[in-house]
Amino acid sequence: MKNKIEKFIAEVQSFEANSLEQLEAFRIKFLSKKGLVPLLFADFKQVAAEDRKAMGQLINSLKNAIQEKIVSLKQQLENQSDSEVSGMDLSLPANSAMGSRHPLSIVRNEIIDIFSRIGFNVSEGPEIEDDFHNFTALNFPPDHPARDMQDTFFIEKDPDIALRTHTSSVQVRVMENGEPPIRTISPGRVFRNEAISARAHCIFHQVEGLYIDTDVSFSDLKHTLFYFAKEMFGEETKTRFRPSYFPFTEPSAEMDISCNICGGKGCNICKYTGWVEILGCGMVDPNVLDTCNIDSKKYTGFAFGMGIERITMLKYQINDLRLFFENDLRFLKQFEAAE
Ligand code: DAH
Repeated sequence: MKNKIEKFIAEVQSFEANSLEQLEAFRIKFLSKKGLVPLLFADFKQVAAEDRKAMGQLINSLKNAIQEKIVSLKQQLENQSDSEVSGMDLSLPANSAMGSRHPLSIVRNEIIDIFSRIGFNVSEGPEIEDDFHNFTALNFPPDHPARDMQDTFFIEKDPDIALRTHTSSVQVRVMENGEPPIRTISPGRVFRNEAISARAHCIFHQVEGLYIDTDVSFSDLKHTLFYFAKEMFGEETKTRFRPSYFPFTEPSAEMDISCNICGGKGCNICKYTGWVEILGCGMVDPNVLDTCNIDSKKYTGFAFGMGIERITMLKYQINDLRLFFENDLRFLKQFEAAE
């Protein structure tokens, strides 16, 4: 009998079950009314008195081994079926595919960073603007032909409310609500009723800059923008100013940088001139200061505005502006390392 019990104990210890049904069969084999353990207890009556204690202990340890086995296998099988039911493989490593910042956000952050190093803060304004902030306060009188420079989306046929066509509208709000010294840049989304092409979109992004204080001069403007161009495009970058026209600045200029693709030698990006335009700028027109409650006899200022798409295209040599809006992961993934 002793041998028999020890053989059962070994069998129990090595038992494995693949299903709850197999485990139940195991339980029945040993513990049911007519199972092996009750049979052993029946045989126990015939055991000699001096062997009874040891034999009793042995049967009990068999019974305990069976019960422990049932509990642990049951738990194991139930855990398995949980993960099968939910369709999850809990042994797979965690999904580590990280997203990355959009190239326009990377460049916007870099522009903010460059200007914040020389004391500019960041200000924002609404994307839905009234005529006063987008045009009139910036010296575009009603019916002024300069309004045609920016094809405008109006809201529900109300000629007073439009999607802002440039971030210069934020200049007006900052001047209305603050006092010089003002040193701020305003990044944001702007909207124009233009056909979508490799070079233009009806939604794009700009950064506006504004500096107002006593004695701000055109040389301050130039020096600030030289610094910006070198920080953004590299120390060797050359800059040049060309006279231009904007209603809200006088004098006005556009700034070119030496083409960072061919290094100024001439290529199709710079149309073989060696130069590419990156922004508009000028001294804030005294009319604009006065309209925004800033005393133009006491203060002067400069402003500039640039398109973030354009800066990004030049910086990363991207030749089609539509790529920024298509969410093609093959394009976006190329900027993973650029942050
Ligand atoms: N608002 C102009 C545009 O969207 C860009 C610009 C030009 C902004 C000259 C300025 C500036 O602040 O001084 O075309």
